[in-house]
Amino acid sequence: MADIVKANPRAVLGLATGSTPLELYGFLADWNGKGEISFAQTTTFNLDEYMGIPVSDRNSYRSFMNENFFRKIDIDISRTHVLNGNAADVEAECAAYEKAIRDAGGIDVQLLGLGADAHIGFNEPGSSFESRTRRKELLAQTINDNARFFGNDKSKVPTSALTMGIASIMDARSIVLLAFGQHKAKAVFDMVKGPVTRDVPASILQRHPNARIYLDEAAASML
Ligand code: F6R
Repeated sequence: MADIVKANPRAVLGLATGSTPLELYGFLADWNGKGEISFAQTTTFNLDEYMGIPVSDRNSYRSFMNENFFRKIDIDISRTHVLNGNAADVEAECAAYEKAIRDAGGIDVQLLGLGADAHIGFNEPGSSFESRTRRKELLAQTINDNARFFGNDKSKVPTSALTMGIASIMDARSIVLLAFGQHKAKAVFDMVKGPVTRDVPASILQRHPNARIYLDEAAASML
């Protein structure tokens, strides 16, 4: 990702939240601090945002990104885009997001984490490969997995989100997926070795011309 920004300072980055990218954001911020890379002209689009919690809530993905990445780098905050999970008109919000990505020239590199159920963004199993940015209901496993950010209280985890669709993700010119830990091993196996099926949303990446997958040994243990 750093190479892409160095080669093209105006690069458009697709970003993710969650535990997985934190170390990567740490490295990028570090290099930015040392003057080795600048984000001053980059534009970013995040994959998803919870519905029904205020933007100011520390668990909103806007807050997460500001806290864990944007405030640590020289980015112009007006070039950072996160879906508005409280939009009065959800369809208009999603359509405007797709248009903003197109107007920016499309995404040069999309960063992805992997759900234990093989979701990408919040595209849960069963999501259409043709899907665009829209509202999705979260499945029980995702709510359980994300409860750790909400004091382990499942009842506090939002049950729906806005997310870029699978087709929106596949439009990115390149993709970097990261997966770490034993709890991702089965999803990694299904993504890489299984059939391309809606039941395993990440399996569609087998058809992307420029997708790279980075794993630790635990996540790769079933391959
Ligand atoms: C986050 C996102 C999700 C996460 C996935 C893995 O913006 O879109 O798909 O990447 O749920 O989450 P972690 O990294 O917390 O295991």
